[in-house]
Amino acid sequence: MTTHGEFSPSPASFRDQTRHNPAARPQGEGGFEREMGREGFSGPTCHLRHRHPPTGWTSFEGPLRPRAYDLSKLAAGPSCPLQARRLMHSRSAEIRFWRLDGRMQSLVRNADGDMMIFVHNGQGHLYCDFGHMAFRDGDYLLIPRGSLWRLETEEPAEFLMVEATNRAFLLADSVTFTRPEIDDAYLQQQDEKNWIVHIKRESAISTLTYPFNPLDTVEWKGDLSVLGINWRDLRDRGSQALFATDRLEIGNFVRHPKQQGRAAARPAVCHSNDDVDELMFYHRGAFLACENIHPGMITFHPSGFPHGMDTGGAAGNHPASYDSIPDEEVVMMLDSRDMLHVDDTIPGGVEWKGYVHSW
Ligand SMILES: [Fe+2]
Repeated sequence: MTTHGEFSPSPASFRDQTRHNPAARPQGEGGFEREMGREGFSGPTCHLRHRHPPTGWTSFEGPLRPRAYDLSKLAAGPSCPLQARRLMHSRSAEIRFWRLDGRMQSLVRNADGDMMIFVHNGQGHLYCDFGHMAFRDGDYLLIPRGSLWRLETEEPAEFLMVEATNRAFLLADSVTFTRPEIDDAYLQQQDEKNWIVHIKRESAISTLTYPFNPLDTVEWKGDLSVLGINWRDLRDRGSQALFATDRLEIGNFVRHPKQQGRAAARPAVCHSNDDVDELMFYHRGAFLACENIHPGMITFHPSGFPHGMDTGGAAGNHPASYDSIPDEEVVMMLDSRDMLHVDDTIPGGVEWKGYVHSW
C-alpha cells in the first residue's frame, strides 16, 4: 500500500482563495450570497455571490422538499412513549412527538437505542432505574438504552423524542448534567403491586408483568445513568452542542434578538447544508427565520436543497413589529448525516405546505 502522508480537508495552499470577474454582474454588495460549508460549517467553507437567488426556482420535483409541521395540531397519541407518533426516521434515528397528562400506567424500556427526550411544555417527575428526577419545560433528558423508566406530570406535557437507533449518545464535555437521586419520592413510589413493562426492540413491543415495582434500586455507582440539562442552565448561550452519535448531533440554540440588535436578526445566508439533513424544533419565542413559525413547530431542510435568505421573518422585514418580539428564541437543533424520511402517517393539516415557498 502506498503511503500518501497527511490529508487535510483544506491544505494551506488552498485557503482563502478568491475568484472574481469584473464583467460579472452585480458589482459591489449586490447579488445573492450563498454559503457552502462542510461538517456543519466547522470544516472548509466558501461564500459565493450569485446574480440570481439560489432559492429562485420555479418548480421542483423528486424526494427532496423542505417541510414545516405544526405539532400542536396533532391529536393526543398513545399513552406509551415507545409508540408515540413517529414524525421522521433514518437508518440511525427515530423522531417522535408525545403528550402525557397524568401518570404513565406502565414502565418502558427501549432496547432499540438511547433516547433523548426534550420537554417542550409541562413539568413533572421521572422515575427510573437510577432514582427520581423532577423535570420541567426546556429540559433535555437522556435515557440510556436498557433503562427502565416512567413519567408523572403535574400539568399536560409535550415531548419531542429522538432515538439513536442501535447507538449511544456521546455527551458534550462542556455541559454539567444532573442525575437522578434515590430520594424519598423514589422510595415512596415502590410497592408490591403488579407492574407492566413495555420493551421495544426493532419497533415491536413485548410486555413483562412483575408482582412488584421493579424501579426498586437501592444503590448504583458507575458512569452510566439517566441525566438531564435545562437550556436555561447552559453556560454557553447561542449555539451549544449537547448530544452526538456517529450519525447525528443534537444542540440547543438561544438568540436574544433585542440585546443582539438588528444585525443579529438578519437571517442566515442561503445554504443547502451539504453534509446533513437539518431539523429544527421551535420551543420558545417568535422566530426571526420566518414569520409563520411559532413554538411547537418543526422544520426540516433536506441536504442539497437550498434554503434560507428569508424574506418574511418576525423582525428582518417587519421593523414595525421588532419591538413586540419576545426577548428570547429557543430552538432544538438536530443534524443527521443519514437521510431523514418523513412518515406519511402524519395527518393532513399538520403540515404548512407553503413553507417551501417562504424564501
Ligand atoms: Fe439551514
